[in-house]
Amino acid sequence: MTGNAKASRFRPSRPWRDAVLYQVYPKSFADANGDGIGDIPGMVAHLDYIASLGVDAVWVSPWYASPMNDGGYDISDYRQVDPIFGTNDDAVAFIDGCHQRGLGVVMDLVANHCSIEHEWFRAALRSPAGSPERQWFYFLDGRGENGAEPPTDWISVFGGSAWTHESAVGGAGGQWYLNLFDSSQPDLNWGNPLVAEAFDEIIRFWCDLGVDGFRLDAIPAIGKTEPFGDIGFTPGQQWDAPHWPPMPFWDADGVHEVMRRWRTIGDSYDPPRHLIGEVLVGSNERLAHYVRPDELHSVFSIGVSTVTWDADALSRFITDMSNAIAPTSSWLTWTLSSHDEVRTASRYTDAAVTGLVDDELGRARSRALHMVLFALPGAACLYQGEELGLSQVTDIPDELLQDPIFLRTGDRRLSRDGCRVPMPWTRDGATLGFNDGRRSWLPQPPEWGVLSVEQQELNSTSFLRFMREVIALRQSLVATLPLAGRCEESNGILVIERGATFRCLLNAGTTSAPLPAGWRRLLSSQALDEEGLLSPNGAVWLARG
Ligand code: GLC
Ligand code: CA
Repeated sequence: MTGNAKASRFRPSRPWRDAVLYQVYPKSFADANGDGIGDIPGMVAHLDYIASLGVDAVWVSPWYASPMNDGGYDISDYRQVDPIFGTNDDAVAFIDGCHQRGLGVVMDLVANHCSIEHEWFRAALRSPAGSPERQWFYFLDGRGENGAEPPTDWISVFGGSAWTHESAVGGAGGQWYLNLFDSSQPDLNWGNPLVAEAFDEIIRFWCDLGVDGFRLDAIPAIGKTEPFGDIGFTPGQQWDAPHWPPMPFWDADGVHEVMRRWRTIGDSYDPPRHLIGEVLVGSNERLAHYVRPDELHSVFSIGVSTVTWDADALSRFITDMSNAIAPTSSWLTWTLSSHDEVRTASRYTDAAVTGLVDDELGRARSRALHMVLFALPGAACLYQGEELGLSQVTDIPDELLQDPIFLRTGDRRLSRDGCRVPMPWTRDGATLGFNDGRRSWLPQPPEWGVLSVEQQELNSTSFLRFMREVIALRQSLVATLPLAGRCEESNGILVIERGATFRCLLNAGTTSAPLPAGWRRLLSSQALDEEGLLSPNGAVWLARG
């Protein structure tokens, strides 16, 4: 436990609305003690690398105590760092190390559910039906003979029923508990004021240790509407909240009361703590509700991973999201990927068309898309390894896969492990510098040696060196660009315009395109061709004059 650790004071050098965030997934970033799992001392050892990217803040995926059934998104103690990651003092050292380098720290806050190993849930299991301990969760009697059927037909985000019979986890009360995610992640009852109070304290605990903001996990799941009833799901139906109307368990209106409560706590600090939500809901109009002036500062632009390599589709996605946020005083935190999504470099390889995975094409398109990401008005977020152009690893043996989505569905295509393979730091070595040992929790493809940080530092045209360049250029321009932008498509070219003097062009067509007259090239994702044309799969930033 942290004894006398003192929070270091930190003021972001740039408004959050212009910031670039870097997401660290601790398990896969760097492993200092050689046990095969990334840890906080490993993160501390690579702080200079993070700072060298030119980002403003780090979003850290959960490092709390956890049985790790969902990579740490199943928390058994919110005030304690898990021993596999280190100690609370290590966490404070990381926060301080970030602050010394001018970086803010945004922590993941998982409030919809905890772990079945959390003392709250253990106490509930020990207590009888109807007891106050069970009111922290949603324990209901089953239906049918002996209550053998789940209380409702609700489905889990991760597949299967959203209800688990407590006997499966050692309970003797004969009831079912709600888990919208894995059965190891029981949903907390936000209708119980004690739950809200407990989280007030957790938020304050980390703010007092110097954390500058929170990435709020699975937010629409909080604040459910009772009484619960059937929706009419069909057997085997898959989760699809982006196409659903509000549900009693997703995007219910009660969530906004919780958002306002957290905003009040965040605002009581100096400087105010930053709140970004992971909000995937059925309409952009509903999305905008989460960023009302007394709720979250920003929401992620999740969903782009489903957009195809098509200028029109990209333009529609960007325009719809921008329009949703426009009437608010808020902004989007644009992102191309995360620890939940297929790597950007693997999404546009044309494998579906040609049957071949063309990694070079995928990486060229990823570079181009990152130029779009950093050109858009609002904040941007980069997931670790994206700056190296890493691809999705699709050949991890079944027995090594750990994602509960795979374990619940048996469908390896749905597994998120492929974007969580440990970072390659060096060209050689058994784990490419992830640790000094011989193994990592997921095996790295041997060809990742050439994509390692060490190797890419040596090559002036590498993906990494390009990403540093584009981030640095954005940082030098961003304060001068208007907050609003325009996005349109013509003949396969996506155009982002910010005011009269800045444009980003992306060529998603099949022929080279001329640059507009009167504009000069600031940076391009690949060399322009001999005639000064922008080739397919490339992007360019232009300045007037
Ligand atoms: C969020 C996280 C994801 C996690 C889920 C449940 O979507 O990003 O990794 O599995 O919430 O906490
Ligand atoms: Ca370790």
